Amino acid sequence: MKTIIITGANSGLGFECAKNILLENSDYFIIMACRNIEKSEKAKIELIGKTKNKNIQVMELNLSSFDSVR
Ligand SMILES: NC(=O)c1ccc[n+]([C@@H]2O[C@H](COP(=O)([O-])OP(=O)(O)OC[C@H]3O[C@@H](n4cnc5c(N)ncnc54)[C@H](OP(=O)(O)O)[C@@H]3O)[C@@H](O)[C@H]2O)c1
Repeated sequence: MKTIIITGANSGLGFECAKNILLENSDYFIIMACRNIEKSEKAKIELIGKTKNKNIQVMELNLSSFDSVR
């Protein structure tokens, strides 16, 4: 299984990108790299509900912090 990291996956283009991958591929695992964990966990539940695919998890990432990126 391949792993895909999507930044900004809790809304907008990142959310739609994650949704389409989950709908079309069961052999990919998605990591939602997002700064707001609460908002992202809600988006993850919405994505699983819409796609019936559980190959997704949230990890904290603030792209404005080099420490967080490391
Ligand atoms: N080139 C083009 O034609 C084109 C067209 C459309 C969009 N874009 C660009 O594509 C990007 C996404 O657009 P969108 O419409 O999907 O925007 P959006 O709905 O506002 O989504 C932006 C995402 O980025 C996240 N984010 C912002 N700052 C962050 C940080 N410091 N660390 C981690 N995550 C951060 C936001 O997280 P939070 O929920 O925590 O805020 C959100 O999930 C934008 O940069 C936009 O300018 C380009």
